[in-house]
Amino acid sequence: AAVVEHTFVVSQVKMSHLCNETLVTLVNGQFPGPAIEVTEGDSVTVHVVNKSPYNLTIHWHGVKQRLNCWADGVPMITQCPIQPNHDFTYRFNVAGQEGTLWWHAHVAFLRATVHGAIVIRPRRGASSYPFPKPHKEIPIIIGEWWQMDLAQADWGIAHGVDVYFSASTINGKLGDLYNCSGSIEDGYMLDVEPGKTYLLRIINAALFAEYYLKIAGHKFTVVAADANYVSPYTTDVIAIAPGETMDALVVADAAPGRYYLVALPNQSPKPDPQSPVLITRGMVQYRGVQAPPSDIPVLPEMPDQDDLRASFHFHRNLTSLLRHRQRTPVPTQVDERLFITLGLGTICRRGQSCKRSQSNETITVATMNNISFEHPSVATPLLELHYHNTNRMGMLQALPDKAPSVFNYTDPALIPPGPKEAKLEPTSKATLARRFRQGTVVEVVFQGTALLQSESNPMHLHGHDVFVLAQGEGNYDAARDVARYNLVNPAIRNTVHVPRLGWVAIRFVADNPGIWYMHCHFGFHLSMGMVALFIVEDGLTAGTSLPAPPAGFPSCGHI
Ligand code: C2O
Repeated sequence: AAVVEHTFVVSQVKMSHLCNETLVTLVNGQFPGPAIEVTEGDSVTVHVVNKSPYNLTIHWHGVKQRLNCWADGVPMITQCPIQPNHDFTYRFNVAGQEGTLWWHAHVAFLRATVHGAIVIRPRRGASSYPFPKPHKEIPIIIGEWWQMDLAQADWGIAHGVDVYFSASTINGKLGDLYNCSGSIEDGYMLDVEPGKTYLLRIINAALFAEYYLKIAGHKFTVVAADANYVSPYTTDVIAIAPGETMDALVVADAAPGRYYLVALPNQSPKPDPQSPVLITRGMVQYRGVQAPPSDIPVLPEMPDQDDLRASFHFHRNLTSLLRHRQRTPVPTQVDERLFITLGLGTICRRGQSCKRSQSNETITVATMNNISFEHPSVATPLLELHYHNTNRMGMLQALPDKAPSVFNYTDPALIPPGPKEAKLEPTSKATLARRFRQGTVVEVVFQGTALLQSESNPMHLHGHDVFVLAQGEGNYDAARDVARYNLVNPAIRNTVHVPRLGWVAIRFVADNPGIWYMHCHFGFHLSMGMVALFIVEDGLTAGTSLPAPPAGFPSCGHI
């Protein structure tokens, strides 16, 4: 196995889009950032040089970091952030995973521009893919362009201000549908040769939106998700939420011509007619053929922007590839069960008492089981406290096993008429954590609620992959729904799609010692507190089997 080495210089760069110059934070001046390409089993070394004005960390999304939680890149949970004009070298292995993952800043707002692909190829070469060897492999990173200052946007979200992004992007390009982006050449162009097969490595790096992706006149065959092979699933539309990755084959088997590749953010209920549809498009064009001069590019027919059923069906149709050698069986014995409602609530802006009706006194926060995550105010990252076995982790509060009250979670009558009039319950804040003995088999049911009006929730767990046993609409009902669990070939994911007004059941083995973030991958839900920590303890009475912190580990200084 090789060592793959990169240097990431993070700095601010002016880019001009939508008739404006915007200062954005980028890695090596690239948007999206550089791809890390490895062979399964390789070691990766990334020297991060922080020339930006922000404290930052980089998270290797989906990389399991076995016995290497130190490299997971969550500020003040696993490490002190890298301060401006400081650097740090991340080292980790990519083992037992093949497909596409990605890396991103784990400072909420920086993630919008500080991100890139991680491509993991099989050891025995591309011909050992469990699908026909593609002619070419192409990363497709869906993202967002923000006109507003992202640090301010993030502050605004946490303080009850509405913010919205300005455009959607494919591989950093806005396409031809926005102001000041004149022609389709401003969009992402993919040249194909007739008859050849292409492997698209699709990543949703957006903060805000789940996307529908389509190519006119072509079908996708999805072969992997979150760097786990899936049974080949042929579809004309891909639904991909923030944090998810999908590998899909596309055969250039249409009549030679030009075909739009469209990314449409989905949203429900119907978007405000005042707000523009932040759609973007690029183009797939056939090469090596004489295109008639009059050829008009073909547009795909997209699902409705407010139709989340296509996403529900897409996610339900993913199952893991049984014949793949790396597949591990689903554990049948469950040690601990959690039922987690995803919602919103209010806290008082200041002091302890405020009236719910006076909305200027309250702030809306995102919750799990009606508690919103409070970032610990510590001078030392929690993982260091954990490693040194100190008793300074008293700020942690146990994530409850179930919701504090049972109600009809998904009754549309509970959907507030508008965000301003939301009938939200008072909520508390705490540094939510759940401790598991190493080896514990955990089952979690994530229950969406009508409090979240418009979204499905992509829930992401660090350090582990999980089996997605079942999903459904409405309220989860164990008596009915356990029978629907797929214990044979469930999809294996690191980011789980909780459908709007529905639920998903997952199972995983908490087998990787450390402190792992578990959160919604929507940037705004993350900033609003839809987070908990899963702490995996290895059962040693003193300390842990984690190795010592890596050389050159950042110190917090006076943060
Ligand atoms: Cu991709 Cu905690 O994140």
